[in-house]
Amino acid sequence: MAAVDTDRFRLRRFVDRLVQIGECEIHDQPIDLVDVAGVLEGNPRATLFKAAGPEKAELIGNVMGSRKRLALALDTDEAGLLPELMKRLANPQKPIKVAGKDAPVQEVVLKGEDADLCALPVHLQHGEDGAPYISASIDFAQFPATGHTNVGCRRIMLRGPRTAGVDMIAPSDLRAIYLEAVAKGEKLPVAYTVGSHPADFMAAVSMTPPMDELDVIGAVRGAPVPIVKCVSNDVWVPADAEYVIEGYLDPKGHVEPEGPFGEYVGYYGIVKRNPVLHVTAITHRKDALFQTVTIGGKSLGRTDTAQLTTMKTESAAWAGLVTAVREPVAVFATPSSGGMYNVRVSLRQRVPGEARNAIAAVFGSMAEAKQVFVFDDDIDVFSDEQCDWALGTRFQGDRDMIVGSGFRVVPLDPSLGGARTGAKVGFDCTIPFGKRTSLEWGIPMPPVMPKSNGKRAAADVLAEKPASFLELMAAAGSRDGREIVRELDALYAADKLTRNESGRYVLKGK
Ligand SMILES: Cc1cc2nc3c(=O)[nH]c(=O)nc-3n(C[C@H](O)[C@H](O)[C@H](O)COP(=O)(O)O)c2cc1C
Repeated sequence: MAAVDTDRFRLRRFVDRLVQIGECEIHDQPIDLVDVAGVLEGNPRATLFKAAGPEKAELIGNVMGSRKRLALALDTDEAGLLPELMKRLANPQKPIKVAGKDAPVQEVVLKGEDADLCALPVHLQHGEDGAPYISASIDFAQFPATGHTNVGCRRIMLRGPRTAGVDMIAPSDLRAIYLEAVAKGEKLPVAYTVGSHPADFMAAVSMTPPMDELDVIGAVRGAPVPIVKCVSNDVWVPADAEYVIEGYLDPKGHVEPEGPFGEYVGYYGIVKRNPVLHVTAITHRKDALFQTVTIGGKSLGRTDTAQLTTMKTESAAWAGLVTAVREPVAVFATPSSGGMYNVRVSLRQRVPGEARNAIAAVFGSMAEAKQVFVFDDDIDVFSDEQCDWALGTRFQGDRDMIVGSGFRVVPLDPSLGGARTGAKVGFDCTIPFGKRTSLEWGIPMPPVMPKSNGKRAAADVLAEKPASFLELMAAAGSRDGREIVRELDALYAADKLTRNESGRYVLKGK
């Protein structure tokens, strides 16, 4: 059991940084829990509620609701976020075990009747939700065969002080572990952290090969994660979290109604049959900060969930792209499409057809993309203006679109109309191969005067070789241009001047 820094990656410390740089507003006044979601909805900043609910609890929301704040968590900028995440994911780090007495998250231990979900500041997030949800929960459970810890994000719907519903419909590792336990009629021990550094969330949703995902948290943090054994089961969790909810998933399987819930695709998810969580203990720091994450609604791009999903989509798409094309440049899953449906890729095409390979690679990766837009590397995939321009001017619907059907898709997508598979569309928005240097694909920019080398007349310059208007200006040392027009007018009048195909001026007979 080693001594490690258990403050460096605590959520409160990151929130303090956000406050300092103006990325987090402070809500000092007491607020009823029902009003919390209204303050967070569409809010471009995180909000720290100092007195939420009658207990006047501290509650932070929307910490990860912008790419800027996610990037800050990895000490990089928005464009650098994916490369930094990929770099870190390549270096898994083994966790460091700490004793309970050294684990801040076990400073307060609540068991039995004292472990009460209804004593936590859990708020109703959307008008039609089935109950208040704990939304910032990261789950930890063990693969029985290897003892490896699986980590994911999964919400918890309050059902009572010690029971809750968890959503486990979509295919996931936790679902597979749980179904195995159900088949044996066994309880599945599980624990949830609430109140975590953004690095832990990014690790929880990253696509990695099968491995101990505590090592993945270490990778994304860039430092080994201190872990502690739960007080009521054998699951290991980050010792520096704000809260931990311990318990087990009921062996009865998907039997209890869970939902509706305002989902990450932007609409409500309907009531589903899901497993029940039984809570056996709650532990927390003495000055614990409860966390909520935003999800769904009209301002999807400003929700924690969409921003986190961009990281899952982009890392999966990138992994596919690096084997499909020689020079992928950037990938961006737009948060306004839930961080998954619309994916933009830029690349340097070395050979014809690579744009289509890129589309096929994203279709076939674990990314949940439906629409894939591929651009040349002169287009900034983060710029709506540039992407719109390229789609408008480089794309022909009957030539550059690929439509495929029958793909694995996110079942929650309401446009599926209940179908279990769906369509994917690729838009090749690249300039036709080999044409980029031609004038008709050249991008007009303000003139940049080359260094002037004297006061040469247009006729003398053209006697040597054809020249553009700007080249004539430079040769004449003109920063005006209109006197060149007069000179050219005189040459036209003497029937000495013509133009070539590129528009350069040419002396007749030369
Ligand atoms: C904030 C947030 C909440 C999520 N909630 C759920 C959920 O309730 N159920 C679910 O199946 N997936 C949910 N996901 C997606 C999973 O966390 C994600 O697919 C993860 O990679 C699954 O991990 P696993 O396959 O290792 O179990 C959520 C993602 C985010 C970012």
